[in-house]
Amino acid sequence: MKYVFLILFINLLPQYAGKSLRRDDRYPKTFEDIKNEIAGYTDIAKAIIDLAVHGKAQNRSYERLAVFADTIGPRLSGSKNLDAAIKYMFSALQEDELENVHLEPVKVPHWERGEEFAMMLEPRNHSIAILGLGSSVATPPEGITAEVIVVASFDELHKRAQEAKGKIVVYNEPFISYGETVRYRSQGAVEAAKVGAVASLIRSIASFSIHSPHTGWQNYQPDVPQIPTACISVEDAEMMSRMSFRGTKIVVHLKMGAKTYPDSPSFNTVAEIVGSKYPEQIVLVSGHLDSWDVGQGAMDDGGGAFISWEALSLIKDLGLRPKRTLRLVLWTAEEQGGIGAKQYYQLHKENISNFDIVMESDEGTFQPSGLGFTGNAKARDIVKEIMTLLQPINVTDVYDNADGTDIDYWMRDGVPGASLHDDLSKYFWFHHSQGDTMTVQDPNQMNLCAAVWTVVSYVIADMEEMLPR
Ligand SMILES: *[C@@H]1O[C@H](CO)[C@@H](O)[C@H](O)[C@H]1NC(C)=O
Ligand SMILES: *[C@@H]1O[C@H](CO)[C@@H](O)[C@H](O)[C@H]1NC(C)=O
Ligand SMILES: *[C@@H]1O[C@H](CO)[C@@H](O)[C@H](O)[C@H]1NC(C)=O
Ligand SMILES: *[C@@H]1O[C@H](CO)[C@@H](O)[C@H](O)[C@H]1NC(C)=O
Ligand SMILES: [Zn+2]
Repeated sequence: MKYVFLILFINLLPQYAGKSLRRDDRYPKTFEDIKNEIAGYTDIAKAIIDLAVHGKAQNRSYERLAVFADTIGPRLSGSKNLDAAIKYMFSALQEDELENVHLEPVKVPHWERGEEFAMMLEPRNHSIAILGLGSSVATPPEGITAEVIVVASFDELHKRAQEAKGKIVVYNEPFISYGETVRYRSQGAVEAAKVGAVASLIRSIASFSIHSPHTGWQNYQPDVPQIPTACISVEDAEMMSRMSFRGTKIVVHLKMGAKTYPDSPSFNTVAEIVGSKYPEQIVLVSGHLDSWDVGQGAMDDGGGAFISWEALSLIKDLGLRPKRTLRLVLWTAEEQGGIGAKQYYQLHKENISNFDIVMESDEGTFQPSGLGFTGNAKARDIVKEIMTLLQPINVTDVYDNADGTDIDYWMRDGVPGASLHDDLSKYFWFHHSQGDTMTVQDPNQMNLCAAVWTVVSYVIADMEEMLPR
């Protein structure tokens, strides 16, 4: 890595020549110079904001997403819908007259949930809403009928390991945060299988519920039996917890037809505005095109994908061409663990010194509050300065750490990264559930998100120097 940094440094030196506001060209720019350079983008930033929020492009990312989401529907890795989505975007990006529109092949997981249902048989008949978890095995064709043990944590499960044998483990873990609580979804089956359970039902990782289960990926472990696993609603998890607390015996019948097929061919979808001066240098904006197989994947991550497309459209509409290449990547198979992004990274990392910043929006496109940023202190100061250009819409904050499964590979290797920060208060109400539809998206909020995304990506792509790393 040091070697790469050294080359980068030497490459950058000549670019200071003649551009510095100082007389003495042997010294790099001061922060004051950089501030002035950024202030020079005030009018362009206003033009972008005007076009996206008030002008001709008002509601465009929302309207485009609505047609896409209603036409294609949900887009699970390996599904025909995902293929259709990629074809759709390939045409749409060409029709938008973006440059170098192309597809990069990736092999992706292909899991289908099949038919599934759960019935409580004791103490009373009650239909339990479930969503099988990605990669879960099926039950035997006749299903599994077993007594339930309800636990609130892995600790409790381990303490009551003897009782769990031959039972269905129901986890009624409290929702603390997605990051903290999601391990019950990803490891719940493995932990239950280790103590001899025959299936696991996990309280959905959701901060609010109207009896909806929320799906997501889960992981088996080598040498641990693979048991069927699904999420249930918060309401049913709490009810079974209350019943078991009263000493009531609970029996559940579970049937799942899930199936894993061989990996499928898929693609990352790419389009560009080629840079005018440093076309080999890249500012990458992105979201993932795949989704879960429920709802419409409008929020996760239709919104992120479509504001990223919108960034290129807005820049093109304004007749702008940044010095560096602005590259849109719509990832495939993010939900299965960033499969498309991993392959993209492996293929393109030889050019890592030319990646200026990697940006991903994958945590909603609600009311934006700023930018999450990963990078060194100098780069952070520059990004903070760029965010002042968004004062007209009052979205100027820079938070610690960019988040995004798909850009992680680059950030771990030192490339600066950015993610959109927005109001997440309702995000986990809908996440990975039937509720993730256009109904939760708001055109005004998407306009603001698109403006933030465009100003940041354009200015970074057009500044004389790459961000320091
Ligand atoms: C954009 O959406 C808002 C909110 O639905 C609406 O009031 C406005 O008229 C729309 N603008 C256009 C150009 O369709
Ligand atoms: C409960 O469901 C089972 C199986 O569908 C059925 O045989 C039984 O009659 C039901 N019991 C009651 C009380 O409805
Ligand atoms: C690396 O960058 C060069 C110069 O832009 C380009 O020609 C080449 O295709 C890139 N390689 C990969 C794997 O993207
Ligand atoms: C600007 O945003 C901040 C939070 O980021 C908020 O506290 C403040 O009230 C907003 N100001 C206006 C004028 O909307
Ligand atoms: Zn996502």
